[in-house]
Amino acid sequence: MKYRRESFGTIDGQTIWQYWLENSQGYQLAVTEYGATITHLIMPDKAGKMANVVIGYDHLGDFVKQQAYFGATVGRVAGRIAHGTFELNGHKYQAPINNGLNTNHGGPHSFESQIWHSAVVEKNDAISIVFTLTSPDGENGFPGNLAVTTTYTLNEANEWLVDYQAITDKTTLFNPTCHVYLNLTGDFDQLVGKHTLQIDSDRFGAIQPDGLPTGELVPVTGSVFDLRQPQPLQAAFDSSAEQNTLVNGFDHPFLLNQTQNTADAILRDPESGRSITINTQGNAIVVYTANGFGDEPNLTDKAIQPHQAVAIEAQMMPDAIHHAGFGNIVLQPGEQYHRQTRYQLN
Ligand code: BGC
Repeated sequence: MKYRRESFGTIDGQTIWQYWLENSQGYQLAVTEYGATITHLIMPDKAGKMANVVIGYDHLGDFVKQQAYFGATVGRVAGRIAHGTFELNGHKYQAPINNGLNTNHGGPHSFESQIWHSAVVEKNDAISIVFTLTSPDGENGFPGNLAVTTTYTLNEANEWLVDYQAITDKTTLFNPTCHVYLNLTGDFDQLVGKHTLQIDSDRFGAIQPDGLPTGELVPVTGSVFDLRQPQPLQAAFDSSAEQNTLVNGFDHPFLLNQTQNTADAILRDPESGRSITINTQGNAIVVYTANGFGDEPNLTDKAIQPHQAVAIEAQMMPDAIHHAGFGNIVLQPGEQYHRQTRYQLN
C-alpha cells in the first residue's frame, strides 16, 4: 500500500488536500478535504485495463461548481426531510428548505461543501484517510454540536470502505451517506443502461414526483423495482414513461432485507467485466440514476447528461423521522455512532 498527498487547490487561501491511495494491484482511491469527497476510483476491467469509475473532476473548482453532490459525504441527514421540520424531545426544529418544499441532504452548504480536517492511518494491508468535522449546535437547524468522522479505506483485498462515526451533545438526527456516482465502463461518454443492478430488497419506498417518500413501502414483485435478480438499468429508463412511479429512472430507496451472507447490492457492467458488491450496516440503499443531470461541468468533451452514472447511496431510509418502519436516525448524547459500508471491487 502507498499514498501521496497533493494540493487540490485553495479556498480563501487555504490549501485543500487530495490523497491518492494505491494498493499493490494498482487500484487507486482519491479523496479530498473538500466535502470529504471521493474524486477518483481506479480499478481494472476484465482485461486488466485501469480506468476511473466514479464521477469526479481533476480540479477543485469544478467540484465547487456542481450541485449534484459528486462523491461527497452527505449529512447531517441524507435525503429529504418533509418540510424540513422534525420534533425531538418535545422541541420542534426547522431545517432550511432547499429542495421544493423540503430539506434535502442536510440543507444548503452542508457537509458536501465544507472543508474537513484530514489525517492518514497506515497499516500493512490498508490505508485510511480520516476526515473530521465539527458541525456546530444549530447548524442548518439541527440541534447539538456534532463531531463527525468520515473514514475512507483502501485495502489489499481490493475493498474500499466508508466508515461514519459521530457523537453529539444534544439529541439530534444523523443519517449520512456517500454520494459517489458510478459508471463502471470507465468511459463517461457511455450511459449506464447496460449495467445490471441487484439489490436484496423485497420492498421499495414510494416517492412523490418531488422525490419525497410517501411513507409507503411497496412490494417489488412484478415491477422494474424487482432487483432481487440482476436487471439492466435500461429497463427502468425504458419504462419511465408508462410507470409514473419512476422519475426518468430510479430515485428511490430500497428497504434492505438484510439477509445474512447475501450482498446488499451488486452493480455490474457486463461489457467491461467490472463489478462492485456492496454490504452496508444501514437499512436502505437509495438508487439515483442521475436523472436530473445537465447543469454540472462536463466530464468529457460532451455535455453532461442524465443516466451518465448511478449513485448507490447506503444509508437509513430517507425521511425516517416521519415514518414508522423506516428505522431510527436519532442520535443521543453519550452514544457512539458507527456505520460501515464495504465495497468489494472486482
Ligand atoms: C437525490 C436526488 C437528487 C440528487 C442530487 C439524490 O440523492 O435522491 O433527488 O437530485 O441526490 O442532489
